[in-house]
Amino acid sequence: MTTISPRSSEAHIATRKKITTKSFQQKKIKGDPITMLTAYDYPTALIMDNVGIDSILVGDSLGMVVLGYENTIPVTMEEMIHHCRAVARGARFALLTGDMPFMSYQVTVEDAVLNAGKFLKEGGMDAVKLEGGHEREGAIRAIVGAGIPVMGHLGLTPQSVNQLGGYRTQGKTAAAAKRLIDDALLLQDAGCFSLVLESVPARLAELISQRLEIPTIGIGAGDACDGQVLVTHDLLGLFDRFTPKFVRKYADFHSEMERAFSEYILDVETGGFPASEHTYEMPDDEWEALIDQI
Ligand code: KIV
Repeated sequence: MTTISPRSSEAHIATRKKITTKSFQQKKIKGDPITMLTAYDYPTALIMDNVGIDSILVGDSLGMVVLGYENTIPVTMEEMIHHCRAVARGARFALLTGDMPFMSYQVTVEDAVLNAGKFLKEGGMDAVKLEGGHEREGAIRAIVGAGIPVMGHLGLTPQSVNQLGGYRTQGKTAAAAKRLIDDALLLQDAGCFSLVLESVPARLAELISQRLEIPTIGIGAGDACDGQVLVTHDLLGLFDRFTPKFVRKYADFHSEMERAFSEYILDVETGGFPASEHTYEMPDDEWEALIDQI
């Protein structure tokens, strides 16, 4: 197994600059892959940022991998903003994108702009992401018009799981693929600075990436997108319910946490913890004075 040294040295950090939507565009032009991961808390964001991730998405996957909901539909604005604030406190350089939860942008354009604004004003995010194609054009144009960068999301859009009939690959027929291409072009025209493509055939994602001037970020969309994103709890092997085919597990945190918690329980139950090195002492004379008093 290759050992990769963490890229978190002070020298490395000193040369870094804040990643912006412009940096995304430059990376696409240069052909440099964009790296993105999800985070929902301060320590995770801090570590990712230190090792040089380009972008952190506070995804509404929060609902499933952190809050234990069945899907992303119950996630609220309050939950999203709470976790965005924690991530923003941990990350200095990465472009931070907050995922707009179900029903925060679908009802009226005014709601969509106000809620998008909360991600920047209250959540400390740099941009927002929302799901959907032509049906979201009005909301996207209005949010972009308010000066808020928008990342689009096409293909498998989990907030529409009930309409899609499950977590299925999208764009597998010529007609569906054509609709996806049209939507991608429309989102670019509406002002999106980048576009997540989730669970679509690799050659369709490649075609869309070639046709668009804005960068595409793939998840289950092959290797020809301009960047890649994964849900961090999948990558770390921490989400127990299911692992999509497109995930590579870089660690087995579930087993590692099980081991650590079990060892702790055993140590406490058998007197192995705390040991002397975990214990505070009191000067003998103070102790004796106390004993005399009582
Ligand atoms: O919510 C999320 O984490 C996402 C990614 C899967 C792109 O939308």
